[in-house]
Amino acid sequence: MTKPPLDILLCAPRGFCAGVVRAIDAVERALTLHGAPVYVRHEIVHNKYVVENLKRKGAVFVRELDEVPDGDAPVIFSAHGVPKSVPEAALARRLFAIDATCPLVTKVHREALAHHKRGRHILLIGHAGHPEVVGTMGQLPAGATTLLETIGDIAALELPDENNLSFVTQTTLSVDDTSEMVAALKARYPTIVGPHKEDICYATTNRQGAVKRVAPLVDAMIVVGSPNSSNSQRLLEVAEREGCALVRLLLRAEDIDWSLFGGIRSLGITAGASAPEVLVEEIIDAFAERFAVSVESVSTADESVFFPLPRELREQAAE
Ligand code: F3S
Repeated sequence: MTKPPLDILLCAPRGFCAGVVRAIDAVERALTLHGAPVYVRHEIVHNKYVVENLKRKGAVFVRELDEVPDGDAPVIFSAHGVPKSVPEAALARRLFAIDATCPLVTKVHREALAHHKRGRHILLIGHAGHPEVVGTMGQLPAGATTLLETIGDIAALELPDENNLSFVTQTTLSVDDTSEMVAALKARYPTIVGPHKEDICYATTNRQGAVKRVAPLVDAMIVVGSPNSSNSQRLLEVAEREGCALVRLLLRAEDIDWSLFGGIRSLGITAGASAPEVLVEEIIDAFAERFAVSVESVSTADESVFFPLPRELREQAAE
């Protein structure tokens, strides 16, 4: 039987960002240098496939530091960053802590600290409960930061000193929603101090840019990623806003609902910053079993960002 044709447009850039590569490399290097087990606080990056792979190699994932036994085994903090209390607790217990916080998240921590030192109250644009937000708020004493999730939160703000404000943002937000929120903040508080635009990272911006280009051209879009991955969820929203009728966030090929995707003639594929390329390939292969596929890459930005391994591992490797 002849297979129906399917044009696949692959968004570029997609998938792993420099912060995710560094965090995964940190766990693998720690396993090479120290052997198993290596403890990892929180999912190192939000992807089940990546986490399961590392588990098989000897990584042990824990929710909190008190699940890590005393001893020499390293404990790694995830790419999303941690509240200040976590490295402090690790130091008090003399654990060997390796900080795999993405340098672009650390940059936001530094901005927040600098504002706080200058006596400014900080408005943090982000999603409640996301580990990055917990980590950023946890750099400062309670009450120093107010979280803003939606534009409605800005209208509802009641602040004691409106002339001494600053803002920072989560790195994996929607570029469009956040620029609206920053504009609303600047309109309400003209003296507010913040980064030039917002703190959304290059990887989030570029992946959303590629989806904007591809989504209007295709019958359906697949975002490869995990439901708990913030940047993957934002890619899904961008594709929907661009008017693509069928958009799904899928972890793996086995999650494809063929009753939805069976009749399409064009498909866009992207992947969140924590989704490995092998899962994109798996999905293309699944379509190739049912369709005569042609694959074209649609590139909207070049990326050459690289972050060296966390200092603790570089020092050890050099010894
Ligand atoms: Fe860092 Fe952005 Fe990736 S903050 S972990 S480069 S999604």
